[in-house]
Amino acid sequence: MSDLENLERSLLSEIDAADSEAAIEAVRVAALGKKGSVSDLLKTLGSMSAQDRQTRGAAINALKTRVTDAILLRKSALKDAAIAERLQRETVDVSLPVRSSPAERGRIHPITQVVDEITAIFADMGFSIAEGPDIETDYYNFTALNFPEGHPAREMHDTFFLPADESGERKVLRTHTSPVQVRTMEAQKPPIRIIIPGKTYRQDSDATHSPMFHQVEGLVVDTKANVANLRWVLEEFCKAFFEVDSVTMRFRPSFFPFTEPSFEVDIQCDRSGPIVKFGEGTDWMEILGCGMVHPNVLRAGGLDPDVYQGFAWGMGLDRIAMLKYGMPDLRNFFDADVRWMTHYGFRPLDMPTLFGGLSG
Ligand code: DAH
Repeated sequence: MSDLENLERSLLSEIDAADSEAAIEAVRVAALGKKGSVSDLLKTLGSMSAQDRQTRGAAINALKTRVTDAILLRKSALKDAAIAERLQRETVDVSLPVRSSPAERGRIHPITQVVDEITAIFADMGFSIAEGPDIETDYYNFTALNFPEGHPAREMHDTFFLPADESGERKVLRTHTSPVQVRTMEAQKPPIRIIIPGKTYRQDSDATHSPMFHQVEGLVVDTKANVANLRWVLEEFCKAFFEVDSVTMRFRPSFFPFTEPSFEVDIQCDRSGPIVKFGEGTDWMEILGCGMVHPNVLRAGGLDPDVYQGFAWGMGLDRIAMLKYGMPDLRNFFDADVRWMTHYGFRPLDMPTLFGGLSG
């Protein structure tokens, strides 16, 4: 048997024996690669006589073609086999129960949910979010909001005072989100349309009060803002938030140092059942305070009250969360009890949107 026949036979048997894509690739490199056995033979063509080239040269080329074809064939067969084997191995047993991932087991706290809902509603009306510090100066928490020094309204807030600093100044834990009104006026020119969700603090604790609670403040300042606009904004908000087609609201005259006129707003509801229903019934429930921004507050914010006017409102978040989702005791909000969260919490992947639904 000639050397070429020997080589071909041994290569064909190696090709046959290759049992993986890697193995067949190794055979290809050993035969047809730069230093492969067939490539070496091809290199001898150059030094052959013309006659040898015709016979032996043709035989070498024919050998190369057959070996190449055999390798390609084996390669594609091995590839098909590898895919078939993978398909077999990776089949999914659809009858297995779904194991829930941490992202599905976790829960969004109702306060966070309510902030997300309110943000979605006001973002749709063109509002943005503003924030301020929880530890506030007496100036922003009271003075800039038109609370005169020594005014009894300061005591009404049951303020937490921090110890005096070197200059004798006593900071406070902000008693409301209203100080962010003045901070925002100082920082940006009108038109201003913001909501301010955040933590607030007062010395108070029972089933409906907690020393740390949450408010959301709203502020609109431009040259034309008026009570009718305020009323419309609050009505649209209440309909969207309580997910009802209509609400009846009642504006009662009230007093806040930072608004003039000031109102307290009640919405009509039905309290006869186990949970309060809005948009129907004969009862009233107070949900927020509001009014036209007092000229002194605009001045504190660096704005000319002869040019600009604004309206504002403030509302307890915890309370409206309790109302909307029927939670009886505020203190549970801050107990970090996983059982309570499992029951009252929201799924993290259900983001509230106006088009997709607020509460899922
Ligand atoms: N800051 C008030 C409070 O905590 C709530 C409030 C009332 C805010 C009227 C306002 C407003 O912006 O206009 O009791």
